[in-house]
Amino acid sequence: MKGLFITIEGPDGSGKTTIVQELTKRLETSKINYIITREPGGIDIAEQIRKIILNPKNTTMDAKTEALLYAASRRQHLVEKVLPALKAGIHVICERFVDSSLAYQGYGREIGIDAVYSINKFAIDNIMPDTTIFLDIKPNEGLKRIKQNRNNLDRLDLEGIEFHQRVYEGYEIVKEMFKERIIVVDANRPKAEVVDAVYEIINHKIKG
Ligand code: TMP
Repeated sequence: MKGLFITIEGPDGSGKTTIVQELTKRLETSKINYIITREPGGIDIAEQIRKIILNPKNTTMDAKTEALLYAASRRQHLVEKVLPALKAGIHVICERFVDSSLAYQGYGREIGIDAVYSINKFAIDNIMPDTTIFLDIKPNEGLKRIKQNRNNLDRLDLEGIEFHQRVYEGYEIVKEMFKERIIVVDANRPKAEVVDAVYEIINHKIKG
């Protein structure tokens, strides 16, 4: 594979989507050949699965069903969009990947990180990101931002602070599991500084 697979992770309200939009403006002026995509979603089938998972009306969804739906959307997105791009030498910058499932479903929903990792290994054929940028923000701060900036809260945003606290702790474990891959960026700083930091990391990885 020639392209680099770079993922951006973080708790809800860490500013991923805004940072990625700003990043696009900078990358467009560089000569880097890239695509930006997101999970769950990024292609039609996966966006349809996203709607089911995040619909606040789906209050009876079982935690394992949720984990399997994320894994299913991940598989389709990987084979339909990520792998063809990487094979064509295009770098892929993806909002969220397996680490989200380990933190949210494995630890947040208390299914177990190992159990969630094993269903995901089946889904991804052991393809993991080359680099992951973790936007670090404490759950209470993240939730505060979401409530200020969004009108429509999805099913996961609407979970209580205890759930988001567990997700954060889950990410702590995941960061330790994959130390060599995950780079932590302090997302409490002003947006421009966070964009600078993320751009520097990506530029450095791609240009060596
Ligand atoms: P987003 O708000 O970053 O687009 O992601 C949608 C929600 O889905 C967010 O609350 C995180 C959650 N999520 C999981 O719980 N597990 C996963 O594997 C992924 C990709 C996202």
